[in-house]
Amino acid sequence: CRVAVLISGSGTNLQALIDAAAGEDAVFSICAVISNKPGAYGLTRAGDAGIAAVTINHRDYSDRETFDRALIEEIDCHTPDLVVLAGFMRILTPEFVRHFSGRLLNIHPSLLPKYQGLHTHARALEAGDREHGATVHFVTEELDGGPAIIQAVVLVEAGDTPDSLAGRVQRQEHVIYPLAVRWFAEGRLRMVEDRSELDGELL
Ligand code: GRF
Repeated sequence: CRVAVLISGSGTNLQALIDAAAGEDAVFSICAVISNKPGAYGLTRAGDAGIAAVTINHRDYSDRETFDRALIEEIDCHTPDLVVLAGFMRILTPEFVRHFSGRLLNIHPSLLPKYQGLHTHARALEAGDREHGATVHFVTEELDGGPAIIQAVVLVEAGDTPDSLAGRVQRQEHVIYPLAVRWFAEGRLRMVEDRSELDGELL
């Protein structure tokens, strides 16, 4: 299974995927890493792993539609079976989402459907939540609204700050994201009419 990874930043989730793809029992390989931000550290991680690393700077495009079309074209060049968003901080057009429908995953740092959007750790703390976490989901046209695949729960501790909480959530992200990608690569995971299915069972 060929996997293209889209990033905007440091790429710790990308690193977890690179490490999983390098394992002895790996079932997927990363065929390209694409960043909308020049200089994103994830591009260095890709280069170090010998993976094609490409920048498509959204600032070079006049609008979202033309940027997304350039992105589609670049991704398709690498013929991935799966496209994985790993800290990719751009909202995607319906055209992009439709193009990769059923083979587009995202990881979001909250227990969706709670806290779609930004600043999830601060919002969970402000609300006094005792549990927080991360969700891997299929991407649909609704932002952070596609069907969930796997969630990791993290307990909120006394004295947690958004940063301390984010750190513990991220360590869990690095476990669940490679697992979800593995399931997809093994042909066990599918999106069926806006629901996720694992081994033929609705999630
Ligand atoms: C992660 O927290 C992920 O949940 C969110 O963006 C962050 C990316 O971090 N979508 P990294 O670039 O993988 O370190």
